Amino acid sequence: MKQGLILFCIAIFLSCQSEKEKKPENGNNIYKPSEMAILMSKMYAKNAENKQLILSGEQPLEFPEEFTNIHIAKLTDPNDRTEAFKDYSDYYLSTLNKLFDDSAASLTVKHNNIINSCITCHKSTCLGPIPKIKKLYIK
Ligand code: HEC
Repeated sequence: MKQGLILFCIAIFLSCQSEKEKKPENGNNIYKPSEMAILMSKMYAKNAENKQLILSGEQPLEFPEEFTNIHIAKLTDPNDRTEAFKDYSDYYLSTLNKLFDDSAASLTVKHNNIINSCITCHKSTCLGPIPKIKKLYIK
């Protein structure tokens, strides 16, 4: 019971957008997401789209160049961009590249490898969206 509560607190602490961060300090109450948060939302949408394409037997055709911005997009917390973060970013981009090469693995496997790479990074930086990201797996 106690342990559950502690885990819960850790999860709240680690989830990348605490309520405090959502409240802007300059008095206007429009929450402004970081460049990285916006990029992540696009990555999420693209993967949801790819999942549907693959499920209907089609192949995603174009490598989304914009997603290489994962290396430069401004983070809510700039301290998140550690050496490990850069490695996770490269790992993500390499799994994304494989979706567009002509290697033998099935599109489903390639897609799920991308989702694994999302989750690998999120486990170390940003736990909050993991349940949502898991929905992108093709079962
Ligand atoms: C290299 C690490 C890394 C990888 C890889 C990564 N993420 Fe993220 N993600 C983050 C961080 C850090 C944030 C918080 C960004 C911020 O607040 O500036 C985030 C935020 C998010 C959010 C919340 C965005 C919002 O509106 O606040 C979603 C959804 C998300 N990521 C989905 C994904 C998906 C889907 C993938 C894979 C296609 C992915 N992420 C890959 C680190 C990563």
